[in-house]
Amino acid sequence: MSTPRRSVGFNFLDEPELPGPQVTEAQAEHILAQHYGMAARAKLLGSNQDCNFIVYGANDDVLGVLKIANPAFNATELEAQDAAADLIAEAEPSLRVAAPLPNLAGEKCTVITGLLDTSAYVRLLRYLPGGTLLDSGYLPPAAVAGLGEVAGRVSRALANFSHPGLDRALQWDLQYGADVVAQLLSQVTDSAQRAKVAQAASSAWSRISPLAERLPRQATHLDVTDANVVVARSATGVHPDGVIDFGDLSHSWAVSELAIAVSSVLGHAGSDPTSILPGVRAFHAVRPLSAEEAEVLWPLLVLRTAVLIVSGAQQAALDPDNAYVTEQTDGEIRMFEQASSIPVDVMTALIKADLGLAAEPDRVVVDTPLIGGIDPAGVATLDLSSQSDVYDSAFVPGGWLLTDLEGELARRAIADGAALVVTRFGQPRLSRATPLSQDSPDVVPTGINIWPDVDARAVAPWDGDVVDGSAGSVTLRGGEYELTLSGVTPLSGPGTRVRTGDPLAEVASGRWTEVSVRPVGAPPAPTLTTAELSRGWLALSRDPRQLLGLPDVPDTHRADDLLARRDESFAPVQEHYYAEPPQIERGWRHHLMSTAGRCYLDMVNNVTVLGHAHPRVAETAARQLRRLNTNSRFNYEAVVEFSERLAAMLPEPLDTVFLVNSGSEASDLALRLAMAATGRRDVVAVREAYHGWTYATDAVSTSMADNPNALATRPDWVHTVESPNSFRGKFRGADAGRYAAEAIAQIEGLTADGRAPAAFIAEPVYGNAGGMALPDRYLEQVYAAMRACGGLAIADEVQVAYGRLGNWFWGFEQQNVVPDIVSVAKSTGNGSPLGAVITSREIADRFSSQGYFFSSTGGSPLSCAIGITVLDALRDEGLQQNAARVGAHLKTRLQALQDNHPIIGTVHGVGLYLGVEMVRDRDTLEPAVEETAAICDRMLELGVVIQPTGDQMNILKTKPPLCIDTEAADFYVDALDRVLTEGF
Ligand SMILES: Cc1ncc(COP(=O)(O)O)c(C=O)c1O
Repeated sequence: MSTPRRSVGFNFLDEPELPGPQVTEAQAEHILAQHYGMAARAKLLGSNQDCNFIVYGANDDVLGVLKIANPAFNATELEAQDAAADLIAEAEPSLRVAAPLPNLAGEKCTVITGLLDTSAYVRLLRYLPGGTLLDSGYLPPAAVAGLGEVAGRVSRALANFSHPGLDRALQWDLQYGADVVAQLLSQVTDSAQRAKVAQAASSAWSRISPLAERLPRQATHLDVTDANVVVARSATGVHPDGVIDFGDLSHSWAVSELAIAVSSVLGHAGSDPTSILPGVRAFHAVRPLSAEEAEVLWPLLVLRTAVLIVSGAQQAALDPDNAYVTEQTDGEIRMFEQASSIPVDVMTALIKADLGLAAEPDRVVVDTPLIGGIDPAGVATLDLSSQSDVYDSAFVPGGWLLTDLEGELARRAIADGAALVVTRFGQPRLSRATPLSQDSPDVVPTGINIWPDVDARAVAPWDGDVVDGSAGSVTLRGGEYELTLSGVTPLSGPGTRVRTGDPLAEVASGRWTEVSVRPVGAPPAPTLTTAELSRGWLALSRDPRQLLGLPDVPDTHRADDLLARRDESFAPVQEHYYAEPPQIERGWRHHLMSTAGRCYLDMVNNVTVLGHAHPRVAETAARQLRRLNTNSRFNYEAVVEFSERLAAMLPEPLDTVFLVNSGSEASDLALRLAMAATGRRDVVAVREAYHGWTYATDAVSTSMADNPNALATRPDWVHTVESPNSFRGKFRGADAGRYAAEAIAQIEGLTADGRAPAAFIAEPVYGNAGGMALPDRYLEQVYAAMRACGGLAIADEVQVAYGRLGNWFWGFEQQNVVPDIVSVAKSTGNGSPLGAVITSREIADRFSSQGYFFSSTGGSPLSCAIGITVLDALRDEGLQQNAARVGAHLKTRLQALQDNHPIIGTVHGVGLYLGVEMVRDRDTLEPAVEETAAICDRMLELGVVIQPTGDQMNILKTKPPLCIDTEAADFYVDALDRVLTEGF
């Protein structure tokens, strides 16, 4: 245990009980009048040991915080705190600091006698508006990084500050943490909790004390926590930018500043030990940690949480009526539980790895191989990653989630002649991913599994002692390493001393044996851990391949710099979802899986209408590619059959089909068909819509989210009508019927001006607005006006067709109209590039004035075969009906969330094309843009891929593959509910 220095200032050991001074609001107001010349109102604030008041002026404006110091602290200590605040304010001008304001005599500290038993030291501190981080629920990584950065800047500013008032021994100073816990432990009434706290504190201290003398000391604030870090609030979230409360300023270990700061993160909902890492990284960037400091950081954090528990128990006993003290305890218990939820060594290894301070792991040297006679050529190493070639349809319907995938693959490898099958160390296993889980799953193995073709004998690779031989398992401790075999018949019992080559266990054929190796003293690793913790556990484990005499398996996937490489070959206009996107290399139905082994529910991929990796589509593609892939100038069955099938799904007179590769091409061709058929060039389009990227479709697209300059840059042949948005547009609710009249007037105006339009193009359900239905009879009226002036009606069905709306296969059916030209894509190929334009024979014939139509890959045998399979599977799997059923459930549940979460302005859409529109105010409908982005980021952490859409990017576009089931729909709603409840 440590021994507190003799200190000139406060020493908690002399005075462990520290009740706050009792001063009334009236007394505080009197002080303000007398010493600061203020006619102000004082309101008592919570405090652990001082007595604080918030000071209001005549107009309820906040003038400062009046602080009456605990009489246990002397004037020198308070002087040091004021000087430190001034110093930080000067050194870090962009950091807001609660520095003291002068009294009428120009002094920062007012000494008052007669108020308390001793002299009272009173200061009026600058008030920093915006609130603190404590007011936030969930802290996103950026906020944690901000907290770490503030701590780093405070530490850097105080590095050379010295003052006699720093010489004190506070119970918050972690140099005395072990003594504090020892002294106050008895105050913890729950005996189980008491034992846990004692154990955690002593284990932490055993890591700290050997390094104590090598830890740099300096002036430290020692309380840069969520409660004392103030924030600037903006729509993008909270941004830590200031610090208050210098009451714990002491000369202590510099690294304690960081440990105390990030410990407070663990009190927040949704956090776990790894949540501190952005804060540690940010601190390290400002004030680099030494190797020793990185080594003790987590132990100090654990100690800090133990100190909080015992101090909270003491304070509650001392001051049972102090609401501030009792309110804190839930958060403090959470902090302690999180801090003690993971072995100290693991978290330390993780922190070091994260900061790039970890040493290369040593290689395990063996005197004899664990199993003799292995020929590396006869060893099959299974690749169980999401990038492996495991996608055999034999695994469907479990797909890649089949838990015995490893076993199945091993049996196949043995059948193919392997003598030994081994799995890979540290490689996330796709078979262990859990499809719908808000938590990161245990997928990363800390050892390997071996499967021999015949029974084998494992021998001791080095001299050592058998330390465990419980049923089916044997552990050998050698000089440096401990080896564990599980799933074996032990041949040496515990307590046996064995020499190199002595038998250890029988390894049976036809089943897995787990092999793990760790340095002696490292905590026993779980067989599988999470991707987030894996760098910690793997640093404390070794690849058992080394024991089998097998060469390392090179990692063929270069993942670290993938985004950088993408940026090098992609233009910046080709965006990607998320600032830090997971690497997604595999999908199955409505799930996606990252290379880290995390499963996500896919709520955005409307293109894969049947779901990802659909076996029938995969088989069709493989079969057709093996057979033939030409183009539509050849005569083959698939192009005819697919065209007939499409035409048959549309009403008369839509019977003629053009096949293309994409939605842009389809809508582009639709515009050209209309122009050719009418001999006109003007087109009327709906504002805020998106129709594609080709010259013509881009010209008729005015979605601000896709092109902020869209409206100002239209060519003269494009005429836009008001966006028929019945929620936030010009005409709302019952008034929305007026959009049609306005559009008709424009069409008639154009005709009167001699510019009668060739076409009116619109999505029949307003996709860009989150799947909003058009006002009743809108298309009926506008189409009639177009036809009256000799123009044509184009329905862009690229997003909404193919049963997504549940009740209707095509979007135009919802409006009771029949367009002249339909463009469709996306769903047509389930992700394969395939689009189509369907029109009447008459209109198609008039296109001949433009020459011939041919697209090299449009309508290829491959595309058409896939197109047919998609239609078959949609029908056979009843996916339109599923969209109606699950969509209705989903919409009802989303609407129910509105009651608890005012940010949800409305839920648009029908079937599985829904839009959850987020607003800051339900009356003004101010779009909650940044909030929507933050919600999407947090949803990703909880296992849901969802993205914003709409001109303001404030709508959660909810358009999953049509195979989604009710359970997954509920998972989405539950995650959203959690995010909106806990914060984002
Ligand atoms: C309504 C609409 N039309 C056309 C397109 C263009 O389709 P593609 O990306 O296949 O070119 C899109 C794409 O998002 C769309 O949403």
